[in-house]
Amino acid sequence: MLVVPAAGRGDRLGAGRPKALVELAGEPLLLHAVRRAASSGVVDVVVVVCPDGAVDEVTTLLAPVQLPDLRVVPGGAQRQDSVRLGLLAVDDEDVDVVLVHDAARCLTPPAVFVAVVAAVRAGAVAVVPVLPVTDTVKRVRGDVVVETVDRSELVAVQTPQGFAPGPLVRAHEAARGAAPATDDAGMLESLGHPVRTVPGAERAFKVTRPLDLVLAAALLHEETTTPEEPR
Ligand code: CTP
Ligand code: MG
Repeated sequence: MLVVPAAGRGDRLGAGRPKALVELAGEPLLLHAVRRAASSGVVDVVVVVCPDGAVDEVTTLLAPVQLPDLRVVPGGAQRQDSVRLGLLAVDDEDVDVVLVHDAARCLTPPAVFVAVVAAVRAGAVAVVPVLPVTDTVKRVRGDVVVETVDRSELVAVQTPQGFAPGPLVRAHEAARGAAPATDDAGMLESLGHPVRTVPGAERAFKVTRPLDLVLAAALLHEETTTPEEPR
């Protein structure tokens, strides 16, 4: 089962419409994201959590992917609400692995989905794809540096994140009304579950600001002009 939170407003992108519906090379980010996820071969039921009022539009725009079981539900105010509403769309008794994948990470290679699912099937309760942090990171207070954080221990976390269904659903129920989490694995972490990592991918970056869309367009162009390029 794959849950795709796609209900955000995209304020930082500033495109004047929900980010998941913004087009990249003539197709919405959401379509790119779901197509790549589906081509991994490890995804069965797909739940897309979309902006309020966009259920029909989103169902139509995803038709080209020909998913065996697509459910489209409206999202909530925070990402965490949207994921919880997506989880409610499927009975988790019937599911062995839940993937949660941001529509905004629309160029994530299918191999990352395969690696995350394999790690959950191998027994991990929660799995996140990660990349080393390349910038020097400092803790600041106002405009004053408090300390430089040891970068060798830091990673940047991507999606898809993979979970055993029961613990994820229970973590979302437990976190209702609490300060919103920016990632699902963090909610399991705070309940004491171990979270495993697998290698992420540079192409799994999140389209957040206008510059990210320029990068995504350039990468797509490169893929279509050099199809043999490894992804
Ligand atoms: N998301 C969601 N429901 C929300 C907020 C976010 O489903 N209430 C989704 C977004 O659509 C996106 C993913 O969660 O696919 C990651 O969130 P983010 O990058 O923050 O997207 P937005 O919230 O849309 O962007 P911004 O924060 O700039 O408004
Ligand atoms: Mg947001």
